[in-house]
Amino acid sequence: MKKMQQLYEGKAKKVFATDDPNLYIVDYKDDATAFNGLKKGTIQGKGVINNTMTNHLMQYLEKNGIPTHFVEQISDRETVVKRVKIVPIEVIVRNIAAGSLSKRLGIPEGTKLQSTVLEFSYKDDDLGDPMINDYHALAMGLATREELDLIASYSFKINQLLTDYMKDLGIELIDFKLEYGKLDDGTIVLADEISPDTCRFWDSKTGEKLDKDRFRRDMGGVEEAYQEVMHRLMGK
Ligand code: TMP
Repeated sequence: MKKMQQLYEGKAKKVFATDDPNLYIVDYKDDATAFNGLKKGTIQGKGVINNTMTNHLMQYLEKNGIPTHFVEQISDRETVVKRVKIVPIEVIVRNIAAGSLSKRLGIPEGTKLQSTVLEFSYKDDDLGDPMINDYHALAMGLATREELDLIASYSFKINQLLTDYMKDLGIELIDFKLEYGKLDDGTIVLADEISPDTCRFWDSKTGEKLDKDRFRRDMGGVEEAYQEVMHRLMGK
């Protein structure tokens, strides 16, 4: 596997072409942003943790019937993934009220939702990733009805799998964001990452935040929180 030209640099990752047209290499950075890039910083060691953790969880999901883009980790920051076209929809799953849902609906953070909430955002930085519904997604041609249904059903299943998995580690899965991609043959697979950047994790006993909210909200102990989640997940 030869790493070739850089195709894309995002806020937290770079994507490279390889000598195999069907494979990319993702390279995780320590850079952190929040509020659509308005707040910038570095979280020491984040790239290594997010790479390792994402791959661990993607393999667990894959074993449990969720197709993913994961192929092989090749270094502490780099992973080979299948080449996909990202579906420009960010899928957010919520079990407990927090963040933008709490703000928008006036539901105090930490309130258990009576049923799981699924939200879609249109993945467009210039527009600030606005929330959309199925009708918008269809009207804009972002996905077909069948694709949206599949994405929703995968997302609910992932929620169940991750909630159970994290619970055993003493972590409550509050909410998280997923992205999907499409292979050449049209197959939808889970892509992007699953990490403290993209999930809210609260310690089951103390309620302590173990995720990027510590950075977003200037709470301190950011690196320690990422390391704590990594430690519980991987035993290191
Ligand atoms: P929110 O409460 O700010 O809408 O965030 C919901 C979840 O989505 C939370 O776990 C953090 C994650 N998220 C991302 O991964 N990327 C983003 O750009 C945003 C806004 C949220």
